[in-house]
Amino acid sequence: MTSVERSSAPARDAATDVVVVGARAGQELTHAAAELDHALDGALAAHLKATGFKGNIGDAELIPTGGRLPAAYVLVVGLGPAGALVPANAEAGHDDVRKAAGVAARRTGRFPTIALALANGVSGTAQAAVEGYLLGAYRFDRYKSSAEPRADQRITVLGDATEADIRRGTTTAEATNWARDTINEPAGARPPAEFAELAKERAEAAGLTAEILDETQLAEKGMNGILGVGQGSRNPPRLLILRYEPEGATAHIGAVGKGITFDSGGLSLKPAESMETMKTDCSGAAAVVAALSALPALGAGIKVTAVTPLAENMPGGAAIKPGDVIRHYGGRTSEVLNTDAEGRLVLADALAWMSEQRPEAMIDFATLTGAMVIALGKKVAGFFASSPELAEQVQAAASHTGERVWQMPLFEDMRKQIDSDIADVKNIGTRWGGAIFAALFLKDFVGDVPWIHVDIAGPARSDEAEHYLPKGPTGMGTRLLIDWIERRAAAG
Ligand code: BES
Ligand code: MN
Ligand code: ZN
Repeated sequence: MTSVERSSAPARDAATDVVVVGARAGQELTHAAAELDHALDGALAAHLKATGFKGNIGDAELIPTGGRLPAAYVLVVGLGPAGALVPANAEAGHDDVRKAAGVAARRTGRFPTIALALANGVSGTAQAAVEGYLLGAYRFDRYKSSAEPRADQRITVLGDATEADIRRGTTTAEATNWARDTINEPAGARPPAEFAELAKERAEAAGLTAEILDETQLAEKGMNGILGVGQGSRNPPRLLILRYEPEGATAHIGAVGKGITFDSGGLSLKPAESMETMKTDCSGAAAVVAALSALPALGAGIKVTAVTPLAENMPGGAAIKPGDVIRHYGGRTSEVLNTDAEGRLVLADALAWMSEQRPEAMIDFATLTGAMVIALGKKVAGFFASSPELAEQVQAAASHTGERVWQMPLFEDMRKQIDSDIADVKNIGTRWGGAIFAALFLKDFVGDVPWIHVDIAGPARSDEAEHYLPKGPTGMGTRLLIDWIERRAAAG
């Protein structure tokens, strides 16, 4: 087990394999780095100068101390431009520290003991350092025969970190890494029933109540969107319901996550290359389960209900067909013209159910449309909000966690493009603006509950390992959801 603790000892006294310090762009040493440079008679600054160290995010120099310090090595990581660290711009500074810590994690995997001197006195930077390090240390190698196991590490956070900073950092990072593990698991190993069990175990171990509805119970409830999408697969669908009900909490919010454990497109089959990454289509569900499971440890004082529709979208003999009509939970109908627009079909049931629970607000996370990726690229999630206050909250939460989001419009006059000839709505609009049509479809099912939809189709995966993001599933949404829930709790 990797452990994280804190110490107020100065960096020059840290008896550890590696002590990690930062330097800003332009070789400007932070206070801790300057202290080590002094103890090394200027050797650190000289080394950075000789190697042309730029101080950008991603830069890192491992320097042996040659016995002149208790630490065997100093790792200097770039923190980017200096301006980012002043308190007035603290949010940007947090993500710089998080990224630098993630870079440090990649460079220090072989060392058992690490001291992080990256917190800079700005509140929240100790948490960011812990988070970044644990996120950057993430590996998924259980299917590698010759994986070099990453050593269990003892991480000491230097500076003015509090116990709470450390607990928050480890809790949010471990939650995200659980989401990554669950998404990384091959779809064949975690079809809906198994995904639901994995999630239930996680949630119950954390102290939540969890309930799984099977296909019979889904039929009894009229959850025909989830059943319809799942009917082309031999692996039947599930609905997972999680409840976090801390004593004394009165405020109540809801979270929904798209859990397509594999998206082949169904009869509207995807081309082979597009299918390669479609085990990731459960990223919204994984993030929601991960975030909810972190709430007891964080002591969030708000009631949260979460629901994740889980189905495998396959083109089997019983599969739903283009032209079929679904009667969703609550009675609204949709005409399925493209079976690959399945996310909105399962979410329709889940959102209608959640709306009936009467939360004060609800949020959904979904890898919903390729169009969203075309619009904002691979690193930014688009969100749609039914109220400006909610939009502001989610934007604030995202800038705190470093997860990038950008608001998209819910223009009402576009709704007529998803009018169906025979049902209440059809599941595709035109190709152009596809993410908006998906959001407008969902909006029909949320009733009057204030709602935010986050389309994470792009950032749910990263094409390359960089700073605290691994190549592959990122766990996007986990930390954002935790942060948003805590904001709601604080607002009462
Ligand atoms: N899961 C996909 C969306 C997706 C695409 C996520 C690429 C991540 C990367 C979704 O179910 C889908 O297939 N959407 C279709 C909708 C279309 C048929 C209206 C799409 O975006 O092509
Ligand atoms: Mn699809
Ligand atoms: Zn999908």
